[in-house]
Amino acid sequence: MTRKFEGSKLLVATHNAGKLTEISEILAPHGVTVVGAGDMDLPEPEETEDTFVGNARIKAHAAAQATGLPALADDSGITIDALGGAPGVYTADWAETGNGRDFMMAMTRANDEITAMGLGAPRTAQFRCTLVIAWPDGHDEVFEGVMPGSLVWPIRGAGGFGYDPMFMPEGYDITCGEMDKAEKNKISHRGRALAQFVAGCFG
Ligand code: IMP
Repeated sequence: MTRKFEGSKLLVATHNAGKLTEISEILAPHGVTVVGAGDMDLPEPEETEDTFVGNARIKAHAAAQATGLPALADDSGITIDALGGAPGVYTADWAETGNGRDFMMAMTRANDEITAMGLGAPRTAQFRCTLVIAWPDGHDEVFEGVMPGSLVWPIRGAGGFGYDPMFMPEGYDITCGEMDKAEKNKISHRGRALAQFVAGCFG
């Protein structure tokens, strides 16, 4: 049985304002007050696991222990089939320059590695999101969302963020970089994981 959320305050262990707004809006009808990591003095634990769920667990439990509140954390990234699931948990690392993140560099690396293998279309890939809610007593629940699709090159679209301009969701002929934000939220890995969370903990 999935443990239900019965409090009135949920800590969302992210410093990303966009994610916080999205989660607050989705939980508003359930009478939950969402508190962001920026409002509390939260530790930023090292993400030392090699799975999305492992890293989301680290963040959620650290936040719940530090604050005494139930805490929700997410970990996400892109998995490319031709690269054996890379970059996966290292999705953000591929963009790291030592002086901020450069996603054009990361997308170019992905394209170069696939091209070097002589692979044409379709270059299948998935955006993945794992959400973990941890309670201060150590219990947790895990929810996952996947958006399947394929990679295009050259990149298309100026919207979105991260790897969006090279990712075309299954059933679409536009990339996430060309897609309206509300439309992407309906089909995205994060949107799907959040829907699972709401169904599991508030249903
Ligand atoms: P994090 O879980 O916020 O650390 O995100 C991991 C990485 O995956 C980030 O570098 C993002 O750029 C990438 N990523 C996660 N979700 C998306 C998405 O919806 N579009 C594009 N990139 C994403």
